[in-house]
Amino acid sequence: MEFVTWCGLFKIGHPVIDQQHRELFRIVNEFHDQLTRGQPSRVAIDTLNGLIKFAQEHFADEEVISKEFGYPEEQQDRHRHIHEKLIYDIFDLHKEISGSESIDLKSISNFLNQWIILHILIEDNQYKAFLDH
Ligand SMILES: [Fe+2]
Repeated sequence: MEFVTWCGLFKIGHPVIDQQHRELFRIVNEFHDQLTRGQPSRVAIDTLNGLIKFAQEHFADEEVISKEFGYPEEQQDRHRHIHEKLIYDIFDLHKEISGSESIDLKSISNFLNQWIILHILIEDNQYKAFLDH
């Protein structure tokens, strides 16, 4: 079973952003699936590296696109800070699992769930209204 499932609720209404969000879901699912096998394997760490890289690219694209659509400067700054925090947080997860023999799957699952879902549903939904104009 998929760990996080994409649905219409996550749609922002911009083809590039929606496609990138779906790809984030795909990588998170792949990573989660690899972790369910027990210890943090080389393969899982590689997937996590890919997730971090893709998230950085996505956040940069999102900042450019939301700016183009007139997302106000102040909210833009706030959004950028949130993106920075999301990257710090996922680097922390990387540090935590890359040096350890075993993992706490439940706490990592909670983290990933919040990391991806809160970002899209709460933060990205705020610039959604600007894409309509
Ligand atoms: Fe996003």
